Amino acid sequence: MHPDWQRICDEFMQATSYSPAEMDEGWKDRSYDRDQRPETYLTYPGKPRVALGTPTFPEGPSLWQALGERRSRRNFLDTPMTLNELNVLLWAASGITADAGDYQLRTAPSAGALYPIETYLTVHRVEGLAPGLYHLDVRGWALERLRDGDLAEEATTALLDQGMCRHAGVNLFWTAVLERCRRKYYERAYRYVWWDVGHVCENAWLAATGLGLGMTCMGAWYDDLAHTLLGIDGVEHFSVLTATVGRVQGDSWQEDRRAPPKPE
Ligand SMILES: Cc1cc2nc3c(=O)[nH]c(=O)nc-3n(C[C@H](O)[C@H](O)[C@H](O)COP(=O)(O)O)c2cc1C
Repeated sequence: MHPDWQRICDEFMQATSYSPAEMDEGWKDRSYDRDQRPETYLTYPGKPRVALGTPTFPEGPSLWQALGERRSRRNFLDTPMTLNELNVLLWAASGITADAGDYQLRTAPSAGALYPIETYLTVHRVEGLAPGLYHLDVRGWALERLRDGDLAEEATTALLDQGMCRHAGVNLFWTAVLERCRRKYYERAYRYVWWDVGHVCENAWLAATGLGLGMTCMGAWYDDLAHTLLGIDGVEHFSVLTATVGRVQGDSWQEDRRAPPKPE
């Protein structure tokens, strides 16, 4: 723990607060030219791509049922999920649903429609998808494979050694490219990115519930280890939320929320 954390956090809260006096100033120091905004879409040209295509939406519970049934479920089976299930979940989180001309709108809202959130995932048990580290190309709706091989141990270690992650179908790492939001909102961007990702995550969680998959979001991870795993700098582009998803045993949430035991 940083010895001076309380003061630093108090200053953060103050530095990122809005006040009427500031509004009265007329935001005169805050120029923003939307035409000069940073690129919204991150891609990894040259990396192997897996096209996702339009997901097939299976029959599922109503929205009201899904809201009533959403739980943190951690007791993953080692049985794989399907690529279509992953596609539905990613679409619910970040799929493009409308074209506004020079920008696109998505399933989840975003402050100023700036979409700073990126999605990375370590794939462990998904039918038809080789294990590895992937990044979601939102505009091209494809997964870009950044690393090959089953990274379950590396991902679990980065996720603060939370045992269920070792058994997950996929572990999700949501990140923020700060400048997309900061160029317009300055200091307030350091709040907006966390709010944005909460919406993305809850959409994914409701989709997981609708698909009958287990999911838990995690606020506890080792930031530096995650940044190394993803190959991002951790300052301008940093992790903002993680989640673990997979098939779960049974359908009792009290059972399903238990983490599987650590392997010997
Ligand atoms: C921001 C946030 C961080 C969380 N972090 C973790 C975590 O690191 N590990 C974990 O097992 N559960 C984590 N959870 C899940 C909570 O423990 C869970 O949502 C809470 O116990 C309520 O249970 P429910 O999700 O089943 O309604 C987190 C939830 C949220 C919203």
